[in-house]
Amino acid sequence: MSVFLTRSFNTIRRYLNVFKMNQTITTQVLPCNPSSISFLDSDSQPVISDEGTRASLKSAVHDLVSLNVPVVLPTETVYGLAASALIPSAVAQIFTTKGRPADNPLIVHVSSLEMLKSLLPPSFIIPSSYELLMQAFWPGPLTLLFPAIPKIPSIVTASHETVAIRMPSHPVARAVIAMCGMPLAAPSANTSGSPSPTKADHVAHNLSGKVRIILDGGPCGVGLESTVIDGLSPDGVLRVLRPGGVTVEDMERVLTVEGQSPPRILVHRRDYSDETLENAPTTPGMKYRHYSPSIPVVLLLTSTPPENQAALSLPETFSIILSSYPPNAPVKIGLLTPSDSSLPFVLSRSKKYAEVELQWDHFPLGTINDPSLTGQRLFDGLLTLERNGVDLIIVEGIEETREGLAVMNRIRKAASEVHWVDSDKPLP
Ligand code: TXA
Ligand code: MG
Repeated sequence: MSVFLTRSFNTIRRYLNVFKMNQTITTQVLPCNPSSISFLDSDSQPVISDEGTRASLKSAVHDLVSLNVPVVLPTETVYGLAASALIPSAVAQIFTTKGRPADNPLIVHVSSLEMLKSLLPPSFIIPSSYELLMQAFWPGPLTLLFPAIPKIPSIVTASHETVAIRMPSHPVARAVIAMCGMPLAAPSANTSGSPSPTKADHVAHNLSGKVRIILDGGPCGVGLESTVIDGLSPDGVLRVLRPGGVTVEDMERVLTVEGQSPPRILVHRRDYSDETLENAPTTPGMKYRHYSPSIPVVLLLTSTPPENQAALSLPETFSIILSSYPPNAPVKIGLLTPSDSSLPFVLSRSKKYAEVELQWDHFPLGTINDPSLTGQRLFDGLLTLERNGVDLIIVEGIEETREGLAVMNRIRKAASEVHWVDSDKPLP
């Protein structure tokens, strides 16, 4: 009899869960003031001087700990959709909310080294390269792969043999994790495949009705996701699976210790390729389309092309780009370029090309010499231009050094067309 009752209850619960999944949720955007949060030492609970911020954080912690539902919170990179990394049913809701394929693993976020150590098996010795990187960049936009951890359920790692972990530096993210007293799994808080949100408003536009709480901590300072590093291979090489907020140049500097030869840092697709890795579903952004707004993104490379590649003139390039648009309707073009680029001036003088009327909407990124600001503004630019109703976005490429490496990684993944152009000959 009791077996029968248990089964019946389980069936009813399953129906209720399906009902819950289809229900629209009321979304609250709760303001937080990051500068009102401080930590006395690395493992302490946060001190929060602003009452409103304290109330917002408490509501988020209640949802995460007592209700086991995901909450959106700001990190220094992008906004994250966080849930307990220890509870499979909480993590499952991250996947359904984002529409994320189940074979794409999540990053686990900790608030202190003590929390990290409480997760790792006592026998695991942290590699010395990791020690140097953690000392320099944690808390911060750096994710490190560790061997899979028994306490972290397989839904988080997509049954992979490694688990990705980072300690965010954003006071709101760190405070929430510390107050929960448990690690939080958190991907970027966007529908899978679209650009990552860097403002609470981006999240509200995308996930309203799907999450209960969005903590608004203002715009993210870095604007691009964390750098993902695999330093577990026995050859001691650090492999950059995803370039991000921490640059290769900064890591090389930190890993250079007098009297020792520094470990090699290899950037995936730039310095090495790995067929197994590329065919495996679990490697950042390699299997699934990423960072794309719902409209086409065209990448224009204005630097000198490599020897085997010829640059087209702007008129030739625009003939290709505009060939799929009917001549009788104006085409609104969003332009994302460095703020000191000459391209917008060259282009936006043209109000018509061939028979097509052109309308321009320019969103300036950082200056050519400031790839860090370009990184901070890139996703905001893609999302803002999309919301302004442009028909396509043209992005001008930048040099792939410092933050430019991560910027170009995201732009290449968002772009459906790439053209080398010689911008000397303007549009007529
Ligand atoms: O800055 C960030 O990393 C943000 C904030 C919220 O922390 N998070 C983020 O998460 O970008 P997500 O899920 O959007 O991207 C994480 C990437 C995914 O492409 C995933 O494939 C990869 O990290 N990843 C996670 N665990 C991995 C693992 N064990 N091995 C290889 N790649 C992994
Ligand atoms: Mg993401």
